[in-house]
Amino acid sequence: MSRPQTLVGRSAIVTGAAQGIGKAIANDLARHGANVLIADMDGDKATATATAIAAEWGVKTTVSIGDLCTEDTNQAMLAAALAAFGKVDILVNNAGGGVIKNFLEHTPETLKTTIDRNLWTVIWGCRSVLPTLLEQGYGRIVSIGADSVRNGLWQHAAYNAAKGGVHGITTGLAREFAQSGVTFNSVAPCAVRTEQVDELMKSYPEAFEKFISVIPMARPGEMDEVASMVSYLVGEEASFVTGQTISVNGGSTML
Ligand SMILES: NC(=O)c1ccc[n+]([C@@H]2O[C@H](COP(=O)([O-])OP(=O)(O)OC[C@H]3O[C@@H](n4cnc5c(N)ncnc54)[C@H](O)[C@@H]3O)[C@@H](O)[C@H]2O)c1
Repeated sequence: MSRPQTLVGRSAIVTGAAQGIGKAIANDLARHGANVLIADMDGDKATATATAIAAEWGVKTTVSIGDLCTEDTNQAMLAAALAAFGKVDILVNNAGGGVIKNFLEHTPETLKTTIDRNLWTVIWGCRSVLPTLLEQGYGRIVSIGADSVRNGLWQHAAYNAAKGGVHGITTGLAREFAQSGVTFNSVAPCAVRTEQVDELMKSYPEAFEKFISVIPMARPGEMDEVASMVSYLVGEEASFVTGQTISVNGGSTML
């Protein structure tokens, strides 16, 4: 695929980018010319992803390894990006993932994990990186939410509590910092065909069919279909778009 170069000179952090949707996002930002830090708790996969992206697109990449639900890890991530690239322009809060269960079958541990992984990662990501973006008067923050917040998908109540918080911090920050040069948006995918979702399709075909039944296009999304929306939102062309949660969902909800 050709490289449009619209993000040349920009530096991006993508959390949860060792695999799945985050990896596709990091790859697409690099395809557009951005330097990319891969932040993830899986060190081996993060390093392999960073190495592959640098080799393919000729951009700088680096990694930051750790569990991003704490402030310290997010501060270390910011420091690693500044050390490697000299600046940060873009933060994509992608780390997350559901513990998908009927609400009353959750344990206190799975509830805590759900909120830590999907909401605290985003809160600490924004709190850690935002001051740097404000200081330079330019920035883009995109967080990955979920379309299930809008359609109340089966077994997603706890996950939706966290992802609804992601949509909520997006509008709040967009209002608070509307005139700062930093924009804040969320991208809300429906089921996306990652490696893990492929496994789910094989192991639980009935559950998967149910999740797909709410999608008018009758298929899961592709990772690149989510990544291209993120690349648009972090680019110059999206300068007047802030405070939005944009679904990439095959028509699953229509607002
Ligand atoms: N796949 C889907 O169908 C789907 C649908 C809607 C939303 N989403 C959201 O998209 C994002 C990416 O999902 P995915 O399907 O690619 O997931 P995935 O499980 O394939 O990848 C998630 C990555 O994030 C990392 N990660 C998770 N928690 C972390 C933490 N606390 N600290 C550091 N790294 C962490 C994991 O190590 C992994 O590399 C998530 O926020 C998820 O909730 C996914």
